[in-house]
Amino acid sequence: MNPLIDPFGRSIEYVRLSVTDRCDLRCFYCMPKGFNDFEAPEHWLNFDEIERVIGAFARLGTRRVRITGGEPLVRKGLPGLAARLHALPGIDDLSLSTNAVQLARHASELRIAGVQRLNISLDTIDPQRFREITGGKLEKVIDGLMAAKTAGFSPIKINMVVMKGINDNDVEAMVEFCIEHSFTLRFIETMPMGDTGREANAHFLDLHTVRKRLERRYELVPGVMPGGGPARYMRVAGTELRLGFITPLSQHFCETCNRVRLSVDGTLYLCLGQEHKFELRPLLRAGVDDDALNTAIREAIALKPERHEFNDKPGQVVRFMSMTGG
Ligand code: GTP
Ligand code: 5AD
Ligand code: SF4
Repeated sequence: MNPLIDPFGRSIEYVRLSVTDRCDLRCFYCMPKGFNDFEAPEHWLNFDEIERVIGAFARLGTRRVRITGGEPLVRKGLPGLAARLHALPGIDDLSLSTNAVQLARHASELRIAGVQRLNISLDTIDPQRFREITGGKLEKVIDGLMAAKTAGFSPIKINMVVMKGINDNDVEAMVEFCIEHSFTLRFIETMPMGDTGREANAHFLDLHTVRKRLERRYELVPGVMPGGGPARYMRVAGTELRLGFITPLSQHFCETCNRVRLSVDGTLYLCLGQEHKFELRPLLRAGVDDDALNTAIREAIALKPERHEFNDKPGQVVRFMSMTGG
């Protein structure tokens, strides 16, 4: 079957699958405090429906699936779903992005289910600052990280959203922490997603500044990492540490975009920074056959826009990051 190529000639082979829009943290740059307007459970795709859609993507050439949320571990039975996705022919890279709050309990089960790679959100290792940013307890995340190491995930990447005046002074401590534990550390620029993301943009920091700052202390040399995402990597000479830079605003990477997002209610979002979408749930629930499902997916891919417009139109995206898991 012909692979999925979008109108700009990009091959789409990576699906980010959001299994819930709920989360057990409240990072101030992501979801508003007290927010409760979540998707109704009857609108959640069930595991059979998810397997059907990912199976169709796999037959159309998708080989990477990343499970996201909200916080994916909030969805009951997640390791069971992971095992079903891992078993799909063609899916050879199954990964998970999590805040790790509940990871200590699930790490080994997820690894056995076939999840190979973990990306973990952690913006600081200062317990007080962690509480201020997320409303949660750092201790649980550290327990989750250690459980992930023991369970044998490889690589384990830490995602740090770097914000001026919030956690930019924690960068060196994070570097040392990741050297000590053999984690990869990735820095992320804040994106103006929803009102919360736009408020956080007051703390926007161009990652070039972070790189310059680190170069005063460490020798950085070009590096590579397994993965299919937009990070560009450097290695810290004399150590095994890889540093990733995710720069959607200062240096966007849309010309190499390879992904689409499936939200918990069965909507395909064609770009993180745009509202273009295609609803699959009505088709699934109307008993669509495989050919018609393939056609629907191709129609959706034809809607994929060229790039985000975070810089030119920062007011554009109304949904919060938690709806599509980044
Ligand atoms: P791998 O490279 O496969 O490990 O995954 P990844 O970096 O794509 O996934 P992850 O969930 O860890 O995402 C890290 C950060 O990159 C998040 O803040 C995402 O919002 C951001 N990101 C991921 N994909 C895109 C994208 O397509 N566009 C933009 N603008 N940001 C993205
Ligand atoms: N800008 C950049 N990254 C964000 N994330 C959540 N909201 C934003 C935002 N507004 C990050 C999380 C996580 C990843 C999946 O997305 O911290 O690491
Ligand atoms: Fe792809 Fe849109 Fe992300 Fe650009 S902003 S890399 S086009 S999803």
